[in-house]
Amino acid sequence: MGLCYTQNVNFIEVRDLKIEFTKIDENGAEVPGKVALNGVSLDIEKGSFVAVVGMNGSGKSTLAKCFNGLLIPTAGSVKVDGFDTADDSTIWEVRSRVGMVFQNPDNQLVSSIVEDDVAFGPENLGVDPAEIRRRVDDALKRVGMYEKKDRGAHMLSGGQKQRVAIAGAIAMRPDCIVFDEPTAMLDPKGREGVMSIIKDLNAGGITCILITHFMNEAEQADRVIVLKKGKLLCDRTPAELFSDREMIERAGLEMPPAIDIRDKAGLPESLTTADEIAEYIAAV
Ligand SMILES: Nc1ncnc2c1ncn2[C@@H]1O[C@H](COP(=O)(O)OP(=O)(O)O)[C@@H](O)[C@H]1O
Ligand SMILES: [Mg+2]
Repeated sequence: MGLCYTQNVNFIEVRDLKIEFTKIDENGAEVPGKVALNGVSLDIEKGSFVAVVGMNGSGKSTLAKCFNGLLIPTAGSVKVDGFDTADDSTIWEVRSRVGMVFQNPDNQLVSSIVEDDVAFGPENLGVDPAEIRRRVDDALKRVGMYEKKDRGAHMLSGGQKQRVAIAGAIAMRPDCIVFDEPTAMLDPKGREGVMSIIKDLNAGGITCILITHFMNEAEQADRVIVLKKGKLLCDRTPAELFSDREMIERAGLEMPPAIDIRDKAGLPESLTTADEIAEYIAAV
């Protein structure tokens, strides 16, 4: 008889999650409102890179806010590294492990100078000044903004601001960062910069959750979670998802541009990423 054990490598465990917003009725009473998530269960493995996609209003941002306890389940549960987000006494255990980066870079910068902005989070955590200095420099180097540390934040491009916002999250030394459509307001060059930082962070061991409406970004993740009207429609590898046109249509999504080109050119379906397709074309 062998010794039997299971190793828990899930960093986040979501079980039967329901989020119901409340609203105020005509008598001024708080009553049940919109159900934004219903019966969602999923696991996020430690060190993985997971994309979350779905049409507008499908519940992506609501789910993102559940990952660090900004929203608490109406029913069901969310556990982060074993800590239940509904438990008030350990909410800082959750918040310190999961950083958030949002869509609008202008709403996220709190200081006028780049390095002050990155220092803001660790300062609030009570980290000592020498350690803050190290963290700020390290975080700015990781996003390629170290040379601009003395700059005024208002002088930066959207992509640069977003990189500073990411540095702010990194400086908190989280295990996981949730990116809610971080590239939606950026130009293609800014988008590429942010994507390459996300991939670097993930390669460095940070669990990355990327909400996006760009399928060429989702295609680069280990796994894609698809939401539809507050429910989990499917949870697969990008290769599995993007070889299923019916599922893509059902979810109200589009194929990644590279896959469309592959199919229009009649290239082999075994090519499932933009890199594979580009390599194949270059070799012809
Ligand atoms: N604070 C809120 N109060 C009421 N309804 C909300 C609130 N936030 C989001 N919703 C609703 O919940 C649904 C999901 O929203 P959201 O998670 O923002 O979707 P997504 O990010 O996928 O576009 C939408 O119908 C939205 O209108
Ligand atoms: Mg959203």
